[in-house]
Amino acid sequence: MDRRYSTWCAPLCALAIIACSDQPDAPSPMAPPAAARDASPSGSISASQVRALALSRGFAPVPDAPKVRPALVKLGQALAFDPILGGNRNVACTTCHLPDFALGDAKELSVGEGGNGFGPARTHPQGTFIARNAPPFFNLATMRHLFWDGRVELTAPGHVNTPAGNQITPAMQRSFEYGAISAIGMFPVTSRAEMRGLSGNELAAIPDDDNPAIWRGLMQRLGEIPEYRRMFRQAYPDRSFEELTFADASNAIGGFLVAAGYSANTPWDRFLRGNDRALTSAQLDGANTFLALKCSSCHSGALLSDDDFHDVAVAQIGPGEGDGTSLHDDFGRMRVTGNPADRYRFRTSPLRNVELTGPWGHDGSFRDLRAFVEHYSESDTKLLAFDPTTLDQSLQGTLQATAPDILLQRDPLLAGVVLTPDVVDKLMAYMSALTDDAARDLTHMIPLRVPSGLPVLPARK
Ligand code: HEC
Ligand code: HEC
Repeated sequence: MDRRYSTWCAPLCALAIIACSDQPDAPSPMAPPAAARDASPSGSISASQVRALALSRGFAPVPDAPKVRPALVKLGQALAFDPILGGNRNVACTTCHLPDFALGDAKELSVGEGGNGFGPARTHPQGTFIARNAPPFFNLATMRHLFWDGRVELTAPGHVNTPAGNQITPAMQRSFEYGAISAIGMFPVTSRAEMRGLSGNELAAIPDDDNPAIWRGLMQRLGEIPEYRRMFRQAYPDRSFEELTFADASNAIGGFLVAAGYSANTPWDRFLRGNDRALTSAQLDGANTFLALKCSSCHSGALLSDDDFHDVAVAQIGPGEGDGTSLHDDFGRMRVTGNPADRYRFRTSPLRNVELTGPWGHDGSFRDLRAFVEHYSESDTKLLAFDPTTLDQSLQGTLQATAPDILLQRDPLLAGVVLTPDVVDKLMAYMSALTDDAARDLTHMIPLRVPSGLPVLPARK
């Protein structure tokens, strides 16, 4: 076995290799995969070995995106960029998911309603942040769980579980053509901090538990604009505007996210499709390392996410979700399931374009991608020594003293993991193979104008 891998899982791997030699057809999941074992000391592995290993373990190119009818994409694009969905008409979906910044905002934590400026320069006069980092929306069509805690979840074909419970009616469920991603637009619009605002508009006056009234209010706004009526008619030719609900608006945004967020032209995808030259030798070595290490037990499958939840010892910063005695903690998946075993678990991040989507982690507490990868090495020590001075100044004082609690729940796969700088180099080379060059500049998504006539956010660079 190559010594470089031995630090990750030394005793177990040794056992697994012994077990494997008896049962070649049933390798232990802990065993370093064949290509890793067969690597020559110089580290040269053949492309076909790595590809065969990846495909045999369920890795695959990003599946084709569902075809979305152009009129629906057009409507969804307009809605995603139109500040009319913000209570005070000053914040759009793309205020926090900017095409200039790989569909995130390049901030640790987003700044919502009442903020000024765009992207990393956006600030709030009261210093208010959203509790979590704004993730991108690449290739989410087949993701079952959306949001860091998976609270929007496709539980069966045609049924999405959401925090709104039965306020999402069966008719609304039927509107969600693309699963969870079609439902997601229902929620930022109801959140006061993200879009609705505390006061100053008719939506802010609605009680927090009356989502249907907020959704009706939004449809009323849209219905007052003839161009939107026309666009809805083109997107939904079988129904009149009066028959539509905000679920149909959200579904259109979902259709746009599915179409615009499709990103599959990475070196890794080209490699998996059969191009031996798609990866540099460093990336090939990196891919082999990623497959050999436990990274690939969680970051697995076509999207490099198991669509499941784990505690990987990420420090907690920011205002939090109102959990814990401080009320500034974020219990992650436990907020959805109520199960204490899910405390501090967050959804495994899909990794396409990860180079471009920083800061990283559910609360953006890593401003440096290499630091995130390195933190898997002795993550207990790293978490206990987390240095908040790397963060935006206004967040430095918000580090929660919960490291010991987070470590109690840390995924057992991380125990005893030590990565040498050389291994981190390789993993970074693999991360660079996950970038679709087209995602470096997505500003072509930005419409010149939106039907409300409000200024299009964000402003072009
Ligand atoms: C104020 C900033 C802000 C605005 C405005 C905003 N978002 Fe988000 N978005 C976020 C944050 C923060 C998260 C992560 C929230 C969480 O996981 O709890 C998120 C999560 C998401 C996700 C989940 C991605 C994933 O990988 O699970 C999608 C999709 C999304 N937003 C789409 C939208 C749409 C559509 C709108 C407009 C209707 C919108 N967002 C408005 C900040 C924002
Ligand atoms: C036990 C499952 C698990 C293992 C093993 C694992 N990850 Fe992760 N990874 C996650 C989860 C869960 C998150 C999100 C955690 C959070 O933000 O709290 C994540 C986040 C990340 C991120 C940040 C992504 C973003 O968009 O913010 C990177 C990069 C990453 N992992 C790379 C790796 C690498 C490289 C390895 C191997 C050294 C690895 N992971 C091993 C589950 C895992």
